[in-house]
This record gives sequence, C-alpha cells and structure tokens, in this order.
Amino acid sequence: MQRVMIFDTTLRDGEQSPGVSLSVEEKLEIARQLARMKVDVIEAGFPITSQGDFEAVRAIAQEIEGPIIAALARSTEVDIRRAWEAVSPAARPRIHTFVSTSEIHMKYMLRKEPAQVLKMSVEAVRLARELCPDVEFSAQDATRSDPEFLYRLIEAVIEAGATTINIADTVGYTMPGEFYKLIAGIRTNVPNIHRAVISVHCHNDLGMATANSLAAVEAGARQIECAVNGIGERAGNTALEEVVMALATRHDYYGVQTGIVTEQIARTSHLVSTFAGMPVQPNKAIVGSNAFAHESGIHQDGVLKRPETYEIMKPESIGLAKGRLVLGKHSGRHAFRDKLAEMGYNLSELDVDSLFIRFKALADRKKEITDRDIQAIVEDTLYKAEEVYRLGAFQVSSGNNSLPMATIVLEKGKESIRHAASGDGPVDAVYKAIDGAVGISYRLVDYSLKAVTSGKDALGEATVRLERNGRVFLGRGVSIDIIEASALAYINAINKMASQVEAHLPAPTSSGQKGDDAVMG
Ligand code: KIV
Ligand code: ZN
Repeated sequence: MQRVMIFDTTLRDGEQSPGVSLSVEEKLEIARQLARMKVDVIEAGFPITSQGDFEAVRAIAQEIEGPIIAALARSTEVDIRRAWEAVSPAARPRIHTFVSTSEIHMKYMLRKEPAQVLKMSVEAVRLARELCPDVEFSAQDATRSDPEFLYRLIEAVIEAGATTINIADTVGYTMPGEFYKLIAGIRTNVPNIHRAVISVHCHNDLGMATANSLAAVEAGARQIECAVNGIGERAGNTALEEVVMALATRHDYYGVQTGIVTEQIARTSHLVSTFAGMPVQPNKAIVGSNAFAHESGIHQDGVLKRPETYEIMKPESIGLAKGRLVLGKHSGRHAFRDKLAEMGYNLSELDVDSLFIRFKALADRKKEITDRDIQAIVEDTLYKAEEVYRLGAFQVSSGNNSLPMATIVLEKGKESIRHAASGDGPVDAVYKAIDGAVGISYRLVDYSLKAVTSGKDALGEATVRLERNGRVFLGRGVSIDIIEASALAYINAINKMASQVEAHLPAPTSSGQKGDDAVMG
C-alpha cells in the first residue's frame, strides 16, 4: 500500500497540552478545518474523561463528514461503551482502545501480570468490535515493552478483531533506527499482521517524533498519528505538517503519499494556535513565520534568481499566498460572501451579516485586507463565549511622565458598568478598570500580543489566560487598536469564566465603588 493515513489527534492528545482547554464550538471548528484538509482520521476526544469531551465527540460525529471519527477508551467496558455512545452517530466511527504493555506500566500503573493484560486487551477489542466495525488497538509505552510479549499481544488482538494496531512511543524514548527495527520485527513476527494497518504514535520528548514516525513508514507503518503544530502531552506529538510535507517533498525517497490537501496547512496551523493559545515558534519547521523567510543576502539573491536554490518547498504549497490583496473598502457583501466560501467557510446568512459589519469597520481603518485578516475576524466573531459582558467604551491616557489611567464601560444585559483605575501601563490600567467593573476574583497568568499580518495597520491579536479556582480560561481579542484588542481578550476570558461558572459568581458591586486592588484574587 503506497498510501499513508494521517490520524489527527489534535483534539485529543493535543488538547492534553498543559494550559489548553477547547470549547465544544472550538473543537467543532477545528474538526471542520481538519476535514477540509482531508485528514483520514480525526480523534475527537476521550469521552469517559468529562461531559465536555463526550459532547464534543458527539457533536463532531454528528456533523463532520469525510474522515473517520475516532473516540478513545481505556480497555474497560465502561470506557468502551461510553466511547461508542459518543462516536456512533458518525458515518465512519472508530473505537480506539489502549492498554499499557511495558513492564513498568503493567507493574506500577495497572498492577497486572502480562497474561492479565493480554486477556483484558482481547476482551476489550472483542467488545469494541461487537459495537463498531473499525477498531484500533494501541499498545501504550510499546517502545519500552518486551518485543516478544508485544508480538503475542498484537496477534491476539488482531484475532479478536482489531483493524489497526498502533505502536506508541508514549514517553518519546525511542530512536529512529531502533523504532524501524521494532516495526520491522512486528511485521516479521506477528503472523496475522497483514490483516491490520500498522500505526505509530510518537511523542517528542527527545525531539525525535517526526524522525521516528518517518522511520516507521520506511519499515512498513501506514498510519501516522500526529497533531497540528505538534501540540500534545509534555513536549507534544509528531507534528502533522512535518510528516506530511516530508512525505510530499521527499516522495522520491519514501515513495508513499498522504491524502492531505497541503494548501490548508497554514490555515489549520493558525486556527489551532489561536484556539489553543499556543503560539508557534518563528523557526518551527513548515509553519513558523520564518520557515520561508530568507535573511542572508546570498540566499535572497539565489531565491530571486531561482527559488529552488534555497527553497525545497513553495510557500504556496502550504497555502501561504504572501501579501495577496483580497478585498478592500469598496468590496460589497456579495464579494465578501464569495471570499468566505472560497476560504472554505460554510456560514449562515446571519453569520455573514455580522462578519460583514466587522469587515466594513476594518476596511475603513485598514487599506489591504488579506485572507489572514478575514480568518482573524471569523475566529474572533463566531467562536466567542456567550457575551455576559461586552465592551461598551474605553478611554486611556498614558505617557512617560504620567500615571496611566483608564476608564471603561462594560455592558451587562441592560446595565452599564463604568469603572476607572490607574495601572503600571495602559493595558494594566484597562485590566484593573475591568476588574473593578466585574468584581470577581481571578489571576492573570499570561498575556501576549502579536500582529496578525505585517504593516503599520496590521490587526493586533491579544491572548490572555485567567485562572480561577485552578481552572484556566483563555481569551482572545482582535482589533487594529492594541489596547482594544487587549481589553477584548480579557473580557472574552472573563465571559468564558462567567458562562461556565455563572451560578457561583457574586454580583458586581455598584460601578466605581471598588478599590483597584480589591478584585485580583
Ligand atoms: O501516548 C500514548 O501512548 C497515547 C495512547 C493513548 C495512544 O496517547
Ligand atoms: Zn500520546
């Protein structure tokens, strides 16, 4: 088989990244984009872990067409039945069940003998197969497992009905040559292996995830589990964009192909980075902002004469159409709607209307509007938490010799809450004024600001993380004014917090009555 399947686990293992928590709407939007990019499998979540995860898997299973939708389950009856309940509406459902196979995991985590682990794996796969025709079995910590035990266990679970066998380098321990031998060993020593697809799932603790996954492909693996931007537990998973572009760029070497629409990679990366609140490092392979930038004069000269002198991939191949002007101030609703459709957004007329208002407001302030700007407006407008608080107005004064001061007006239903505060800088003053108006306690744990596109009139995108009772709420805001973007991001995080814990929030006190330091918990 010359086709390598791309199994995307951004929504499951990716969401296990520290500090990342996606709402059901955000997961759905990422799933829509993964389907546009034509991944083969979307691992939508781990339904037993929470009601939110269950609902996200179910919503994705109900709506997304094209890819197989997988739900994760430990090798227990309750997990498997819950996974099936969530994923069964999918046109092509998959149950993905796993068990630890290394001595250290079996002894200390499972507290079971190898024979017991083999038995529970077989029973789990049998049950999953009774429910679903597509069953993946993962050997967790396979790379630190006894290969002879792995061979026996894999043979047994294939006999029980597993259709994909996933070999996990759970702790990112293996090396490419060693992993190649493990996969080759499985192909030689498991008599019924031809009845299943061999998959690999690598973590990046030693920076080897991409190399290990590609070594496994050379040894015969035909499914790679990966996450967009390489997000995931600890140092993350194999980066989807890296393996896909390596297989595409070095088709001469690997001789295999994926079904990925590579032109969707940049957009997917941006969407995941924004929703997860995890910026992509500038020098990140494929999707970093410097990945196609040539700094040295010699390189620039070469690229101008012939791009292939220093470019092994074209920026367009991942969907980077540099500096392309798409729409402007005079574009009408019709052209705007066509542009959204061309970008792959399938939106209701109502959504188009509200986006068009924001587009027009932006076009008044910004000369050139690119795909990136439109993507930022869509993400900022449509995937917001319920607006408990809305920014009515704000005013800031700041200078090198004066105390920064801010006044803000927040709308809450029909109520207008006004508050003024001073701060260490204009953003701090705005945040303190908002704190005073909202009147609940939380802690600002992270704040960042970046430009969505280049140029003096670029949109600014602010991201904040607020923590309350151990839970972290991510907020984003986009505006041509960076103070406004910062205020919007802060209010967005407060709204997420308020809509999830509304019942427990104390009502704000009357406007302007609270001291500045009374609210930061
Ligand atoms: O890293 C791992 O072992 C996993 C399994 C559930 C496949 O994520
Ligand atoms: Zn993992």
